Amino acid sequence: MKSNNIKNKLKHHPIIVTAGGTIEPIDPVRYIGNFSSGKMGIAIANEFCKFTSNVTLIHGHITVSVPKNIQAISTRTVEQMYRAIQKNLTPQSILVMAAAVSDFKVAQIKNQKIKKSKSINVKLVPTIDILKTLSRQKKTKNFFVGFAAETNKLIIHSQKKLKDKKLDIIVANPITKKNYPFGADVNKVYFITSQQIIELPLKKKTVIAKELVQFIAQLIE
Ligand code: CTP
Repeated sequence: MKSNNIKNKLKHHPIIVTAGGTIEPIDPVRYIGNFSSGKMGIAIANEFCKFTSNVTLIHGHITVSVPKNIQAISTRTVEQMYRAIQKNLTPQSILVMAAAVSDFKVAQIKNQKIKKSKSINVKLVPTIDILKTLSRQKKTKNFFVGFAAETNKLIIHSQKKLKDKKLDIIVANPITKKNYPFGADVNKVYFITSQQIIELPLKKKTVIAKELVQFIAQLIE
């Protein structure tokens, strides 16, 4: 698709991209996190910026810096990321959830630093599922893209998430010994919709971002 066509397609759609990993505090100095670097989400936000100025990156913990041209909101916890998305989401928004969102948080965050001991039990409770919650208020002009990293039954699990979270596209990546996307510059992904499964060969995340933006532009009205 030509650049001007993509610009036209995106004209009426504010873009929200999430990136990085959320963190959930345990006590004032410790947290539960994950290995997400933010590279994929930042590459996607950067790619969108070539076609539209209405791009907001909402990121959790990241290990790379955000290019200056991208308008960014920094968050930590799932709750903060959810609130930032809610605040920016419009009925026309395209939302790309590339962030690795924690499924659990600590039931009771300790006010004092936990002292050394033989062992401790930390009770974890579920966090809010951002995409699932937002899917309940999804408008016809919204377009939601989710990500799935799976160690087994990649396509089946991803298709289930596509349906459950009312996504338009899910970007599925296998986690294997051969393909470990966390922190890497390359990844192997599948673009899955209710109609098709497109397998891409191993590519740089910047190239995946380019192809994803093209694909989104093709699919939106
Ligand atoms: N996601 C979300 N809120 C959560 C967890 C995940 O919005 N609390 C989003 C992710 O950003 C991703 C998609 O949902 O785009 C799928 O995330 P994933 O962790 O693969 O799926 P889960 O629904 O958490 O299922 P599971 O961890 O059991 O595989």
